[in-house]
Amino acid sequence: MSADPNYIPQLYGRSKGHALRARHQRLMDELLPRVSTPDPQAGAIDLGALFPQASQFALEVGFGGGEHLAWQAAHAPDTGFIGAEPFINGVAKLLTLIDEQGLGNIRVLHGDARPLIDALPPARLSRIFVLHPDPWPKKRHYKRRMISPWFFQRAARLLKPGGSLRVASDIPDYVRWTLMHARRAEGFEWTAERAADWKERPADWPRTRYEAKAVREGRAPAYLEFRRI
Ligand SMILES: C[S@@+](CC[C@H](N)C(=O)[O-])C[C@H]1O[C@@H](n2cnc3c(N)ncnc32)[C@H](O)[C@@H]1O
Repeated sequence: MSADPNYIPQLYGRSKGHALRARHQRLMDELLPRVSTPDPQAGAIDLGALFPQASQFALEVGFGGGEHLAWQAAHAPDTGFIGAEPFINGVAKLLTLIDEQGLGNIRVLHGDARPLIDALPPARLSRIFVLHPDPWPKKRHYKRRMISPWFFQRAARLLKPGGSLRVASDIPDYVRWTLMHARRAEGFEWTAERAADWKERPADWPRTRYEAKAVREGRAPAYLEFRRI
């Protein structure tokens, strides 16, 4: 990881899968422009203007198919949720959920979360979610990992005191990696007091399809929560 605080790592991983179905394409053409965040490259993002009705704000980085984000948004209608995801098929799935459930409190960035993270104002978010970030298991790819000193520094800037950062992973090395960086980071404490606090899925932490597959394949997820102090 570069020492330059303005450094944004390159985006890795896939951004396209199978061709979009007609319905997904229509949602990308018609709904996405209405629920997109402003372009983060164009300057600071005003959360109050983006969510005039919201009293709190939250961010999900890499929402995959959007199941978790849609669930959280449906259960916290006073919170404005921003989700960032570069994978077009995932964005189309979230748009389907927004459309079907009539969710008015989600804004979407189809792209890399990191420029967005730098465009958000300090100390305004109550919650940040990073669920099952791409593990990049090879040592020479560690610098591609989302959880990093860069990320903890930004999360500390974005969260209000008492705000929470949730990270899930089903890869033991990534769990250790996250805990190591959390310990080294300034401004966070791990909320777990006993093993069950991170081994058992909290009731307000719905399972995504990705996680269900991990469990089916015999991998146990860890549910890590860090409080901004
Ligand atoms: C293993 S998937 C997990 C998806 C979802 N969070 C879940 O639990 O089902 C990791 C996701 O992170 C996304 N991702 C990777 N790099 C990203 C970045 N720089 N910004 C935002 N999302 C990113 C990927 O496209 C992928 O959808």
